[in-house]
Amino acid sequence: TVLVVDFGAQYAQLIARRVREARVYSEIVPSTTPVEEILARRPKAIVLSGGPSSVYAPGAPVVDPALFEAGVPAFGICYGFQAMASALGGTVARTGTAEFGGTPLEVVAGESTLFHGLPRQQSVWMSHGDAVSEAPPGFSVVARTGATPVAAFEDVDRGLAGVQFHPEVLHSEHGQAVLEHFLYEVAGCTPSWTMTGVIEDQVEAVRAQVGDARVVCGLSGGVDSAVAAALVQRAVGDRLTCVFVDHGLLRKGEAEQVEQDFVAATGVSLKVVDASERFLAALAGLTDPEEKRKAIGREFIRVFEAAALEVVAEAGAHGEQVEFLVQGTLYPDVVESGGGSGTANIKSHHNVGGLPEDLQFRLVEPLRTLFKDEVRRVGLELGLPEAIVWRQPFPGPGLGIRIIGEVTRDRLELLREADAIAREELSAAGLDRDIWQCPVVLLADVRSVGVQGDGRTYGHPVVLRPVSSEDAMTADWSRVPYDVLARISTRITNEVREVNRVVLDVTSKPPGTIEWE
Ligand code: XMP
Repeated sequence: TVLVVDFGAQYAQLIARRVREARVYSEIVPSTTPVEEILARRPKAIVLSGGPSSVYAPGAPVVDPALFEAGVPAFGICYGFQAMASALGGTVARTGTAEFGGTPLEVVAGESTLFHGLPRQQSVWMSHGDAVSEAPPGFSVVARTGATPVAAFEDVDRGLAGVQFHPEVLHSEHGQAVLEHFLYEVAGCTPSWTMTGVIEDQVEAVRAQVGDARVVCGLSGGVDSAVAAALVQRAVGDRLTCVFVDHGLLRKGEAEQVEQDFVAATGVSLKVVDASERFLAALAGLTDPEEKRKAIGREFIRVFEAAALEVVAEAGAHGEQVEFLVQGTLYPDVVESGGGSGTANIKSHHNVGGLPEDLQFRLVEPLRTLFKDEVRRVGLELGLPEAIVWRQPFPGPGLGIRIIGEVTRDRLELLREADAIAREELSAAGLDRDIWQCPVVLLADVRSVGVQGDGRTYGHPVVLRPVSSEDAMTADWSRVPYDVLARISTRITNEVREVNRVVLDVTSKPPGTIEWE
């Protein structure tokens, strides 16, 4: 394992993914983890991520020099580079000048392991305030930029190296190659981590965890729960029963899709529970996003408990307990909920943070260490159809968090129609793979005046939120062609009663999240 030390910026997850793209397994640890704890995990290497703009920034975390004395190879990136320099006796100049964005970099060393075989001039992505002015003793300076005389250094004998730029972002032309040179040549890692290996390991782990017990899995229709279920089925066969809770917050046609596509692909036994009344009752009067999420999460688990007991009864196994519940929790959920790093709890993703205390299941989470793109690859290897594997992400709380205001049956009906039109038109325009997802949000408590035919209307706006993203951690708003937007707008305002305005959300993440709640 390579451990990525997270200094609190959003970059740590991206770095972890890039390390895995190099086929080396990686995990994230918060920068507050004591050095002994990090070393006790016997990492093959340590990567220090970006973070504050400078080691002089107020409250900037310090790095214990002991981290570099244990002989574990280490790579500092941006803030991590400065922290490494100052821990090892180099100098970070309080220049106060910042470099941001695409920057030309020049390789200055005759021989460099990090830049071996790469062009001597290349463009890199910078985002920093102060800069390293002097490398620590024993290091050679291997690259510079206009404003940064020490833009990369290495001490291959000690297995230490670092770069001021961000090799993990695609704007750094040869960033991945630099990272791989560190991993393979400086740290001696071997590229052996594969999805086949992940499947084998998880099948073993699930068998060991559940023994002879029965397992229930909640299917949401999304790729995560589908892949988790297929993986668990491979491990325990017909001791798995999938339960599909129709909470009434799904999109048009979605329930049918789960029942047909997934069952056809896996032959898994599926129990469908129509619980929409119950969810609506639990949501009545709630407008606060976190309260809505918690209510949905709570009901979800309760409905499961009831369904699980029925599964046992139906199996005719008197008194037998369904002990385990499969969850398609992914690594970013774990990290965002504070389970894997020091990052703040941004939203209580109900499958991680919001579980009720009276939960009667033990959780099986075979995707807990994986990123979304890795889950898709696992799904394909498990033989799931592309339609499931490439389905756009849809949040567990469903349309419940896309109605801003109280959730009611009528409002759900409006939103379902508007959403179906948007999806249909985006697909027809061939944009499915370009767009990560496109939430359609109903501003249920907002009204605006419109005119239709001869009459004044006083209806609600819906928001289109098409985003492009690699992992949902960061996202940009998608530049959907105007004519496609025009068709969506015309159709929604004509076909959906009470919606008289369609607006486009042009906010990236950060600062906006993808969902509105
Ligand atoms: P945000 O809104 O946090 O969303 O930028 C990031 C991604 O997560 C999805 N999402 C959820 N998925 N349960 C889920 O399974 C949830 O409670 C939840 N909330 C947000 C969202 O659709 C996006 O893909």
